Order: sequence, then C-alpha cells, then structure tokens
Amino acid sequence: MQKKKDKIIIGNWKMNPLTIKEAEKSFEDIKKSVSYVRKTTIVICPPLLYLEKLKKISRKINLGAQDAFWGDVGAFTGEVSAEMLYNAGIKYVILGHSERRTLGETNELVNKKIKGSLSAGLTPVLCVGESMRDENHSYFNLVKTQLEECLNGVKKTFASKIIIAYEPIWAISSTLNRHDATSVDSREMAIFIRKVLYDKFGAEASRIRIIYGGSVNEKDALDFLNNGGVDGLLSGRASLNAKKFAEIINIAENNF
Ligand code: 13P
Repeated sequence: MQKKKDKIIIGNWKMNPLTIKEAEKSFEDIKKSVSYVRKTTIVICPPLLYLEKLKKISRKINLGAQDAFWGDVGAFTGEVSAEMLYNAGIKYVILGHSERRTLGETNELVNKKIKGSLSAGLTPVLCVGESMRDENHSYFNLVKTQLEECLNGVKKTFASKIIIAYEPIWAISSTLNRHDATSVDSREMAIFIRKVLYDKFGAEASRIRIIYGGSVNEKDALDFLNNGGVDGLLSGRASLNAKKFAEIINIAENNF
C-alpha cells in the first residue's frame, strides 16, 4: 500500500460558535499558531454563514462546508449547492456525517451529494462509521454497505479526490455514554476500508486518503496518526479550541 506522508487535519466546527465574532477570533488564533506549517493540509469546516468572512483571513487554512446539495442551481428552498460552494472558493465538503444521518440522510442521498460535489470540483470527505460494535463484527458489513452505496457509480478517475473519514459514532464526543476508540480500532477499520476501496477502484484506491475522527485530541493525535493506519484526522470538539487544534496540527507537521 502506497502511503501518503503529509497529513491532513480537518476541523468540523459543527453548529458552533454562536457568533461570527467568536468564529473570527478562533480562526485568527489558529492562523497565528500555524504560520510555520508547510506540509500539513489544514481544513476548517465552520457553519456556512461564516465561510465568506473567514475566507479572507487565511490562505493557508482551507475551508470546507459541512454539507452540500446535489443539484447545481434551481428551486430547492433552503439548500446550498456544491457548485455554489466551489464558486465561492470553498474546496472541501463533509458529507454523510453521522449527525446528518440521524436527521434522516440516507446513503442514497449522500451518493447524489458525493457525485454533485465531485463534478463541481470539491473534495468530498465521506463519513462512515458504526453506532456500536458487536461480537459478530457485523459493523464491518455496515461500513462496507455505507461505502458501496455512497460511492455507487463514482468513476475511478475521481477516486483520488475522495477522502474517507472513519468516525465510530460510539466514540464521538456528542454521543451519550461514549467511550474511547483506540488506534487499533482505527487501524483495523482503515485496512478494511482500503480493501473495500481496492475492490471498487483497483490500484487507484491507494490514492484515497483515509482519516480518523472520534474525540481526537492533542493527547492521542500522535497515536492515531502513528498507529491508526490513517492519513489524517477529523476533529470536532478539539477543533473549537484554537490552542488544542493548533497542537494537533503541530503534531502532524512535526512527526511525519
Ligand atoms: P468529536 O471530535 O467532537 O468527537 O467529533 C468528531 C466528529 O464528529 C467530527 O466530524
């Protein structure tokens, strides 16, 4: 397996913070702490409303959206299309996040959004992951189905553009009674995901980045990056704290 050396660190701010002023402050603070970063790709996915303002603050920090509609333009009240995001200078989009799946998003819908985002020129970050683990290991099948259905019909030529984020729901900070996942959990799933991608895309699969998300913090980031079989991290809560997020980026920059 061909492994990419440089890491990607993505912050998913979810529906935070409450004001644009706070968002700007946090973004500025992160910007100041990462001025030395050369290799690591940094992405922040704030609420949609803040993108335009934050875009002007830093070139080094890439911006991403937390969702994108599949159609390009037209009568879809409340939606924002991948095409619009691309035209506004946004490069990444998180799709199929478990918190959106809880609100009713299906693999079929995520599939349409993945295709729409790829043809618009965005890099989709496809989230997959099980809500719990069972003794029969059926969670592998669930992740396989998520991958197959969400990537159904995606052409090989687009494969290298896609990022897969493994986010075990039971480890995410917002999950009630959550518990920590280990780098071993991450590694075995990353190997499995890579195998599913190989079956679908052949050798091109080696160019797809697989990242881990689920309560990653500045204390375990190195372990996940070293031993979790992944090319980067998707951080939620820790990315809201400029100091912690900058530390995670620092770890990725200085150790790989
Ligand atoms: P936490 O890092 O807060 O667990 O969130 C993970 C996540 O959902 C990122 O998309």
